Parts: sequence; C-alpha cells; structure tokens
Amino acid sequence: MKKVWTFFLSIAFVLSLAACGGTAASSGGSASSEPAASAFASSAQPAASSEAAEPSADAEPSAESETPAGEGGTLVAYFSWSGNTQQMAQIIAEQTGGDLFEIAPATPYTEDYDELLDIAQQEQAEDARPALADEVENWDSYDTVFVGYPNWWGDAPMAVYTFLESYDWTGKTLVPFNTSASSGFGRSLEGIAQSAAGATVLEGLALTEGELPDAQDRVTEWLDGLGLHE
Ligand SMILES: Cc1cc2nc3c(=O)[nH]c(=O)nc-3n(C[C@H](O)[C@H](O)[C@H](O)COP(=O)(O)O)c2cc1C
Repeated sequence: MKKVWTFFLSIAFVLSLAACGGTAASSGGSASSEPAASAFASSAQPAASSEAAEPSADAEPSAESETPAGEGGTLVAYFSWSGNTQQMAQIIAEQTGGDLFEIAPATPYTEDYDELLDIAQQEQAEDARPALADEVENWDSYDTVFVGYPNWWGDAPMAVYTFLESYDWTGKTLVPFNTSASSGFGRSLEGIAQSAAGATVLEGLALTEGELPDAQDRVTEWLDGLGLHE
C-alpha cells in the first residue's frame, strides 16, 4: 500500500514542481529541494488530525470581527487539517494583531489520513467547492487578508477556493501562507489569484514541516519585509 502512495506522491511532486517553476509570489518551500516521497507519507500522520476540526480553546478561531468597519483591519484566514497551518496562522495573528478565521468545511473531513488522500484527490479532480461551516463577519472591515492552507496534492484544499470565491476581493490585499511536507505552494498561487479576482496578492511564505520550529522568526522576517508587522 505504501508503495502505491509513494508512487502517486512522486507523480504529484513532479507535477507540482513543474507547475510552480515560474511562480514569483512565494518565498521558502515552493522551490525547495524535494525529499523522498516517503518523507511526506510518514510525516503527515493522522495522530493530530482532529486538531483543526476541533481547535483548542485558546486557539478558537473567531468568525467575528474585532475591528470596526473602515479601520483597515487584518484577517488571518486558514484551513488546517492536522494543525500545522493553524500554528502558523496563530503566529501571524499575534504578530499582526489580526483576527483569526478558520476555513472549515461544513462536513468535517475524515480523521483517517489514507482516506483523506483519496478524498482530497477526488475533490481536485471534480474541481469541487465544499460548503463551509462559517462566514466572515464584517468582511468589509478588512483591508488585508492572510490566507493559509496546506499543500494537498500540489494545490490548495478545495475548501480554500470555496472561501476565496465567497467574498468580494476588490481593493483587498491577499497574503498567502502555506505549510507542506516539502512542496510549498505548488501550483496553488495561480488558482488563488484567479479565485480572488480584484485582490493584490503579496509575496507569500511557505514553510515545510521541518521549518515549523523556526516559524516565529521566519514569520517576523517575512512580515517585516512586507511592512505588515504590528
Ligand atoms: C491530502 C493530503 C495531500 C498532501 N499532499 C502533499 C503534497 O502534494 N506535497 C507536500 O509536500 N505535502 C503534502 N501533504 C502534506 C501537508 O501539506 C503537510 O503535512 C501540511 O503541513 C499539513 O498542514 P495542516 O497540519 O495545516 O493540515 C499532503 C497532506 C494531505 C493530508
């Protein structure tokens, strides 16, 4: 079974690398060297798979704005299945003073990693738009929206596209961030720019699982470079 995954993941890596070859709006991750596919298969175990679906109390994402309309607020929206992207989102929210919002599917994904691989691949093949559990309140109050997600088969989870296509991005600044086993943004940045038509997309930050222990410093450096640190 593992050999089959290794084969498919190898194909996915190759496609994802080929697709992101010309991408400029990313830093870290997307152009990183590719470890063996087995590293991906073994690193994303389902042990922490329920974290994203049921965040801890202090990590509870809020769909409510703490920023009054018109004050140019910051929103940190993220999708996370096993907690890595959520961790990055929390750091970004702390360093920008932004509000957190979890992009969660109305029907939670399975907690079984192998099943999830199949489901994610099928959703991509169907170009699905899974319904979401929550909406952002006071969307108009945000000027800057960070959008974070894991790499799933070289792209963003389809629920992220549902999120992007649910709002008017005219005049907004979108700042992507990503976690992955190794492939960074993959081909997702193209899809994001299309689905968030009207947004100005800034340089993103992609961290691999191995880079997550340095996330605080990496995020600080990145935000400083963008002039978005609080
Ligand atoms: C369905 C699925 C597909 C994945 N595909 C890739 C991939 O193509 N390339 C990669 O580097 N990592 C891949 N990963 C690993 C995740 O991107 C990585 O573990 C990420 O940090 C998980 O983020 P999360 O904890 O926020 O869900 C995949 C994981 C899952 C569950």
